[in-house]
Order: sequence, then C-alpha cells, then structure tokens
Amino acid sequence: MKIGILTSGGDCPGLNAVIRGFSKYIFNQIKNVTVYGFTDGYYGLIHNEHRILKKEDFSGILNLGGTILGTSRQPYKLMTIEDRNGDSKIDKMCNTYKELGLDLLVTLGGAGTHKTAALLDKEGLNVIGLPKTIDNDIYGTDLTFGFSTAVDIATECIDRIHTTAASHGRTMFIELMGNKVGWLTLYAGIAGGADAILLPEFPYDPEEVAELIEERNREGHAFSIIAIAEGAMTKAESKLKKDERLAYRGNEATSTKALAAYIEKKCNVETRIVVPGHLQRGGNPSAYDRLLSSEMGSFAGRLALEGKYGTSVAIKDNKITYNKLSDIAGKTKYISTDHQMINIARAMGISLGDGKKYKLEEI
Ligand code: F6P
Repeated sequence: MKIGILTSGGDCPGLNAVIRGFSKYIFNQIKNVTVYGFTDGYYGLIHNEHRILKKEDFSGILNLGGTILGTSRQPYKLMTIEDRNGDSKIDKMCNTYKELGLDLLVTLGGAGTHKTAALLDKEGLNVIGLPKTIDNDIYGTDLTFGFSTAVDIATECIDRIHTTAASHGRTMFIELMGNKVGWLTLYAGIAGGADAILLPEFPYDPEEVAELIEERNREGHAFSIIAIAEGAMTKAESKLKKDERLAYRGNEATSTKALAAYIEKKCNVETRIVVPGHLQRGGNPSAYDRLLSSEMGSFAGRLALEGKYGTSVAIKDNKITYNKLSDIAGKTKYISTDHQMINIARAMGISLGDGKKYKLEEI
C-alpha cells in the first residue's frame, strides 16, 4: 500500500502525535507499506516534494509540537484557478497522486484543508481527513486535536494576567485566537475566571462592557479581566462587511484597541491589552491532546484498512467515528446560544453580547 500524508494550514500541538498514531497502526497492520510525507502541506503535493518516511521517523514525536512535515496555507479559493498551461493546483495534486501510484492520501488540517480534501475526493482520489485546529470549528466533530492544549495555554495566560491586574488595579484585555469562532476564548475564559467573555458569534455593546466594569468597581474590585476573541465585534460592526469593518476600525485587525480606549475613558480605569498570539499554537501537546491525537490517528489507520475513503475522523459524545468529507466540507461549527458552556457563562453573567441559535445543520 502506498500512502501520502500531509499537514496543511496553521499548525497546532498534536499534529505529530496524529502522524505517529496513524503510522504506528499502519506499520503494525500492513507488511508492505510505503508512507510518503509531503512537504509543507498541499504545496508538497502540488509540486511533488516529498520524502519517504521510515518507522524510525515516527519515534520520539508524540510530545513534539509543530509538524515534522512542515505546513503552509494554500487558500482553497485558488485551488481551481488554472495556470498558463491550463493546469489548476487540483490537477497538479491529482497528477502527483497518480505519478507516485498512491492508494490513499491522508490530510491533517482545518476547515480549508477539509474543503480541498473534499475536492480531491470528488476528483476520485482516496482521501481520509483528520480534524486539526486550535479553533475547534470543524463541523461534525465535538473536538479537534490541538484545541485542548490551546485552552490550557490561554487559561494559564489569564491566570498570570490576574495577578498583575490585581496588583495594579487594572482592566486587562486578553485577546485570544479565533477569528470566526470563539470556542477557545469561551473555554479559556471560563477556566481562567474572566470577568467578561466577548466572542465573534455574540456581537457586544461597549456600553454593556463598561457597565460590568463599573459594577465590579462599585463592588470593590479594582481590576477586571476581559477575554476577547480576535474576531469579536461590536453590534454596530457586525452589520458591516469585513472590508467595511476594517475601514471603520481604521485598519485595526481587531476591535480590542478601540474597546480598551473606550473603557479607559468611560470607566476611568487604566487598561492594558495582552495578545498571546502564536504562543497558543506552539509547544508540546497536553496529555489530553496526545490521547485524542493517538486515538484519531490510529482510527484513521483503521479507516484506511477498511477502505473507508472520502471521510474525516471525528469524535462525538466521546466516541471515535467519522463523517463523509462531502457532508462537512465548507461548514463551520459556530457556538450556538444554547450551547452548554454559553449557558454556564450566561448564568455567571460573564458572557456578553447577543448570539444566534444556529440550526443543527449549521453547527
Ligand atoms: O486557524 C488557527 C489560527 O491560529 C486562528 O485562530 C488564527 O486566526 C489564525 O490561525 C492565524 O493564522 P496565521 O498563523 O496564518 O497568522
């Protein structure tokens, strides 16, 4: 059996653990197998840049962050655009697959990677996907690998900010990753004891944030902690298109700076903004992510052996399973107003803004 494997899109902890879990399963179950590791995601498949991975390549990588294969972003919208010779990137990837005589392509990636994987499946390639991302926004799976580690890191950031915020009596804004979805901010915000959580799916009113801080001040708390997702937006901004929103913000990528400036003036408090950025994606996977990655990776090996192609590994209600790529590609798992964690945050009065009750097929 000849198997190609790649990691695409933004990296996250657990990629190597999945590669290892898959390969261990495959090498254990099949005698004659060659694994081709493509360099930098779909780039390697497009340009046929690969190396053959031996058993020893999978040793010592369980706890290693990043990806031993390298990764890159290859935007989905450019996949079908033809070059001067009339070849699209999809054509080139199909050619590499055929030239190498692959029986299967395994893709580890997020939403964009899944969309391209679904296109390759449609072209007749045998593809199995694995749901990677710290954003946890892949449709059809309760969890993605990498998310739990990022929640741990972001929670630790909030913990650390608490002590310095308390010492100085400041209002601190911690801007966490998540452009379209706020899972990471919601989970880390609750785990870290943030006083307010602002999410992309729940546009907020700056006045509401000010009231919360003033209320805390009246209660004798000199400091406040606001966990804000990078994609969070005010109610006014939510009515604008993405480019209009950027222009409205004076080309600031996020709403955090404007909100902090507003709060400083309105509440007469000192503010600071902390952006942990890629720290949330770097470093070793947590024990939980090592378990999830090993389970997902080896389950992908089982799907390969059973010939269940055109699929993506998922975990639902704690059970490992799979979805059809064509059913999940292009969909986003947003936080709905009736999600249990939102209910908890609402009950504690820390989730602000108004969200939407997404229908099941949208989640
Ligand atoms: O998709 C994962 C993610 O970390 C998002 O949370 C974030 O918005 C984005 O990637 C950052 O992308 P890049 O690493 O390309 O700057």
